Amino acid sequence: MADFEQIAEQIHMSGSDTMPHLTAYPSSLVLIGTGRSAFAFRLKESSKVMKVFFPAFRHVAAEEAEIYKTLENNHFFPDLHAAGNGYLVMDYIPGHTLYDCLREGIPITDHHIADIDNALAGAAAEGLNPSDIHLRNILITPDGGIRLIDPARFRQQKHCTQWEDLHRAYERFYKKKLFPKKVPGFLLELIAYLYKRRKSFTIQAPSNKVIH
Ligand SMILES: Nc1ncnc2c1ncn2[C@@H]1O[C@H](COP(=O)(O)OP(=O)(O)OP(=O)(O)O)[C@@H](O)[C@H]1O
Ligand SMILES: [Mg+2]
Repeated sequence: MADFEQIAEQIHMSGSDTMPHLTAYPSSLVLIGTGRSAFAFRLKESSKVMKVFFPAFRHVAAEEAEIYKTLENNHFFPDLHAAGNGYLVMDYIPGHTLYDCLREGIPITDHHIADIDNALAGAAAEGLNPSDIHLRNILITPDGGIRLIDPARFRQQKHCTQWEDLHRAYERFYKKKLFPKKVPGFLLELIAYLYKRRKSFTIQAPSNKVIH
């Protein structure tokens, strides 16, 4: 634990608290991903990842750690090895995010989709409310397995339809013969942008009916 603390202290960010620049980090780390709240590093010569939150989101580390503990029997999520001040250490998951799969033309199958459904049903059975399930939080491993990361919002009250919407898009569009299995990054970003805009203009009616 002390070692992880030392490593985390050597990671330096500057600029905005919500979207900082990474200015320095130890040579024992490899940057493998940047999200909206954290940098993810692989610890070299190990199968572990250190997720270090941006200054404005440091408090999320404790929340995400609690949720990983609730999910410890759900094999679709990585094991958590340590949690400290603004950081987490978990299993490294080899493979590709669904975002990368779409960009690189790696096939996504019914089997993967069914596994994601199972993973989320397992989380719901533990009393969680799976939320923020987007293409960069789902990985396909080299042996074709599914893993999910980033459950920080699984204890929120609000119902999140992101996975239902992705599942529907898979059935309605992706599975169609003529749908391109390889989609340029800019188009994926545009779709994500339009999706978020549409969602933010969606008004929730009291009767639970959604008005557009
Ligand atoms: N355990 C892991 N194994 C492999 N890759 C990982 C792991 N954790 C994070 N990553 C990579 O780093 C990226 C960012 O990590 P993560 O999703 O945890 O950050 P975040 O800021 O919480 O993301 P979001 O923008 O979804 O809120 C992921 O999309 C993924 O590509
Ligand atoms: Mg993420």
